[in-house]
Amino acid sequence: MKRVIPKSRPVLYHEFKSKIGKLRILDSRRAKRLAATTKRLDVCSAQIAHVFHLSGFAGESPLRGKTCVEIGSGWVLSHALVLYLLGAAKVIATDVQRVANPAALYQSIHSSAISIVRDILSPFEDHSLIRTRVNRLLTIKTFSYDVLKDLGIEYVAPVDLTKGPLNLKTDFVFSFSVLEHVPASDVLLLLENLTRDLSVEGKMIHCIHLEDHRDISNAPFDFLSEPGEKFSREVQCTRGNRLRCSQWSAILSQVKGMEFRFIYEWTRSDKKLPTIIDPSINYIDDEDLTVSHIGILGKKMKI
Ligand SMILES: C[S@@+](CC[C@H](N)C(=O)[O-])C[C@H]1O[C@@H](n2cnc3c(N)ncnc32)[C@H](O)[C@@H]1O
Repeated sequence: MKRVIPKSRPVLYHEFKSKIGKLRILDSRRAKRLAATTKRLDVCSAQIAHVFHLSGFAGESPLRGKTCVEIGSGWVLSHALVLYLLGAAKVIATDVQRVANPAALYQSIHSSAISIVRDILSPFEDHSLIRTRVNRLLTIKTFSYDVLKDLGIEYVAPVDLTKGPLNLKTDFVFSFSVLEHVPASDVLLLLENLTRDLSVEGKMIHCIHLEDHRDISNAPFDFLSEPGEKFSREVQCTRGNRLRCSQWSAILSQVKGMEFRFIYEWTRSDKKLPTIIDPSINYIDDEDLTVSHIGILGKKMKI
């Protein structure tokens, strides 16, 4: 007798498997591309050194022996490696989606100018300790989650820290190009949860990119004219939540127990603002609207 297989089940399963497979391939390609460009270890070292200088950390070893959390680590965990090089005892790299590709770290390290990594990080940790740690990274042929664990780096994903804290005492929180992807109504919740985990005197640095991610080069402010009701949570996650500089300032002032300040505030003037700004956008003036990048430093206060 012919076996009757319900048609819908195998087809759906097959489609599901192939979709997941395709996404994995795309994630892996993306990781490889990033590891050779913006996620090179020397590039990420420069980014962290830059904000550490602006935060006044030079001459200290601010991360030695500390527990660090990175929010939204992305496809290549290079910033987590930099935190390891700076002496962090533990780095928890987190993301709302599980997209990291540990193997891509080999490319990130080996396409970098290693002397730049050492030199640029040295104001924030003993040069010879950085050299020892860099040399250890150079000996690793295959990066995996287990190898990262031996370095004190743990990948925790998917996790949504707008829903609750990690419940882990943390000394330092870092994010790069992440907070603008969090829906505007969730940003305060996220910052409050991060603050709950932070130890007194603990710090956070967030680098936030305020441009329209649909076409950053040519139309960085186009999203400001789009009707609020069309700018759903999903759209905010991809194009950016449209919070302007003054709104970030207002949100930061609501986080109890934290003292925040801007460490940089860059303005974009080569591209015009749209002629109509949607009424759902809260802003002070054109200057406020054209701020394209901000860096914020927060410190948890004794209560
Ligand atoms: C533009 S990528 C930046 C990745 C990485 N920080 C970097 O510098 O390459 C944005 C990252 O933020 C993550 N993300 C978005 N919303 C998030 C949220 N609510 N909590 C944590 N991560 C989030 C995304 O999954 C993605 O990995």
